[in-house]
Amino acid sequence: MTAATGIPLRLGVNIDHVATLRNARGGADPDPVRAALSAQQAGADGITLHLREDRRHIVDADLPGVMNAVSIPVNLEMAATAEMQRIALAHKPHAVCLVPERREERTTEGGLEVAGDASRLRDFIAPLCAAGARVSLFIAPDERQVEAAAKVGAQVVELHVGAYGEYCTKGNDAARDAELRKLFTASALARHLGLEVHAGHGLNFANVGPIAAIPEVVELNIGHFLIGEAVFVGLNAAISEMRRQMNLARM
Ligand code: PXP
Repeated sequence: MTAATGIPLRLGVNIDHVATLRNARGGADPDPVRAALSAQQAGADGITLHLREDRRHIVDADLPGVMNAVSIPVNLEMAATAEMQRIALAHKPHAVCLVPERREERTTEGGLEVAGDASRLRDFIAPLCAAGARVSLFIAPDERQVEAAAKVGAQVVELHVGAYGEYCTKGNDAARDAELRKLFTASALARHLGLEVHAGHGLNFANVGPIAAIPEVVELNIGHFLIGEAVFVGLNAAISEMRRQMNLARM
């Protein structure tokens, strides 16, 4: 919970890389459903999973498996394709986050091009909203994209903080601070336009503080680092420590 802003900061735990490990052996272990239940027990506010076109980690059966197992909201990340829209409408997760997807990328590298694809995205989003999903767009902290997100009918923007994280890792303080300023500006604009603001990608214990401190941000989605940390300390301890750091920054 928060002191400075009064707005609680939720933690969505992305379990994709539990599925990455499972798929490496082609069996059933480690089970993403068990990971989702552990994350819920550890205090996660939501479970996020990305069903990619190539099914490299999460596979189709994981979505209903996780949705049936947990009582916290499930956020389905997906590309804006007809196939994914059909899947989302069939299962009706609490939230859908639209992300750009390229087969050759290792992870979601950039934000969604909303401004240049507005009419298609408006048509794509409408049935998802009508089915009750909270639709989020994963975008770079770019005012043009924020304005376009509001216009196409999204309720949420998730700001891509990957560039900020990389500058932190490289120790490039000037570039990190410039990226943080962009994130502050984009968050304020999004809130002003009536959008809920989330953030994610590449967050870890070392860099989460300044992002958690952005007053308009109400949800962080964190995956790779937490699953990696769980190898050493367990998922429960990794999530508890992340939540502690988030709360500390928020105060
Ligand atoms: N949010 C979105 C929209 C993502 O695509 C990802 C990566 O799948 C994340 C958050 C989580 O990023 P990471 O695994 O680096 O914590």
